[in-house]
Amino acid sequence: MRITVIGCGYLGATHAAAMADLGHEVLGMEIDPDKRAALSRGEVPIYEPHLDDLLASSVQSGRLRFTDSYAEAAAFGDLHFVCVGTPQQPESLAADISQVETAISGLAPHLDRPALVVGKSTVPVGTAERMAERLAELAPAGADAMLAWNPEFLREGFAVEDTLHPDRIVIGVQDGRAEKQLRNFYAPMIDAGTPIVVTDFATAELVKVAANAFLATKISFINAMAEVCEATGADVVDLADSIGYDARIGRRFLNAGIGFGGGCLPKDIRAFVHRAGELGVEDAMTFLRHIDDVNQRQRERVVYIASAMVGGNLVGSRIAVWGAAFKPDSDDVRDSPALWIAGQLHLKGAHVRVYDPRATSTASTRFPTLNYADSAIEACRDADLVLHLTEWPEFRRITPADLDGIVARPRLFDGRNVLDLDSWRSAGWTARALGRR
Ligand code: UDX
Repeated sequence: MRITVIGCGYLGATHAAAMADLGHEVLGMEIDPDKRAALSRGEVPIYEPHLDDLLASSVQSGRLRFTDSYAEAAAFGDLHFVCVGTPQQPESLAADISQVETAISGLAPHLDRPALVVGKSTVPVGTAERMAERLAELAPAGADAMLAWNPEFLREGFAVEDTLHPDRIVIGVQDGRAEKQLRNFYAPMIDAGTPIVVTDFATAELVKVAANAFLATKISFINAMAEVCEATGADVVDLADSIGYDARIGRRFLNAGIGFGGGCLPKDIRAFVHRAGELGVEDAMTFLRHIDDVNQRQRERVVYIASAMVGGNLVGSRIAVWGAAFKPDSDDVRDSPALWIAGQLHLKGAHVRVYDPRATSTASTRFPTLNYADSAIEACRDADLVLHLTEWPEFRRITPADLDGIVARPRLFDGRNVLDLDSWRSAGWTARALGRR
């Protein structure tokens, strides 16, 4: 099929490259000239495993190219995927959906034949209905310019795999023709056994935020349990393993640590709380405020623990930070707990040296006043404390012997609960983690 992808950021670039790889003719619409130029050369402006190969081969095959023209997009395709960002508004918890509105308003006046516009962005419930009206109003094709909502569940670090092999396809439609077109488009995945749920707009929009709210709840639940474990001498990893064997609970997303961050979970739950308020159901969603508070408190606790570990005064202390990205296999530092903690320690007077295998460049753009090292070992030179904050595999391979003669004081804090504390302790280190013995 001939499709367009409007907005070629993280979600759009992955969707465009993956759909071209599946054999579709794809035109990506990207207004940022630098991003568009990089994508047209087959270069991915972000770090995402396997995306660079997929994009380069799709561009090379001629099945994927990029434009900044809505008129060209409308003329090119019959299916238009809207993949623009919906960040948190600067002064409020609400999502900023202006990019979605701009995309619809920009494309619609050029739709002079039947077309299906498919929203993939995460939006407050009720947006799709308004956008469908706007589309029908502005498009010369009128009611033949249809809208569907098809939320995307991809995880950073697994974006390509999640796009090519989703665990479900959810589509919200108002019209059987839209359903038919999308079933046809996703036929290879549906035939391969991917479950599909066809529903209304509101449900499709809510599925995405409900999924993220549930994941955030699991993480904050186990982080709250970690605090109880600390108060009682219990161990949160044994606890998570034990409750995780219950299939109704499941072990995934029960890793206690410094909490969740990134471009989705934090802003999506805040936008959900805000939207619930607008809908008059804020009481039902109050618990999500607590989920956010528990998450924020994890970061603050780490700053407190780090201060205690260096003797109660951060001023002049030297702290090594392993990790800046919000999770491994990503260079994304949006709302990253690791970078937040590093920044707070710096602001409180510590000399902080950060190392991240991929996120140094994004982190130093966002937080230029921190020091950045070229290796995990180099970050630790003369350190009074080492903080492990993003669980990149290379940090797990470092042994106490590797840091002999490097650190000033053998003190380690594991903010992700994946290091073998016993091996560090038996080498003479003071080693702590959240909710662990
Ligand atoms: C998330 C959703 O998983 C995905 O479905 C949605 O489309 C976008 O948002 P992502 O932001 O890539 O994906 O990250 P995810 O893997 O969910 O992790 C989010 C955060 O939670 C990370 O900071 C991670 O470190 C943290 N986390 C995750 C924990 O602290 N503990 C866990 O057990 C799992």
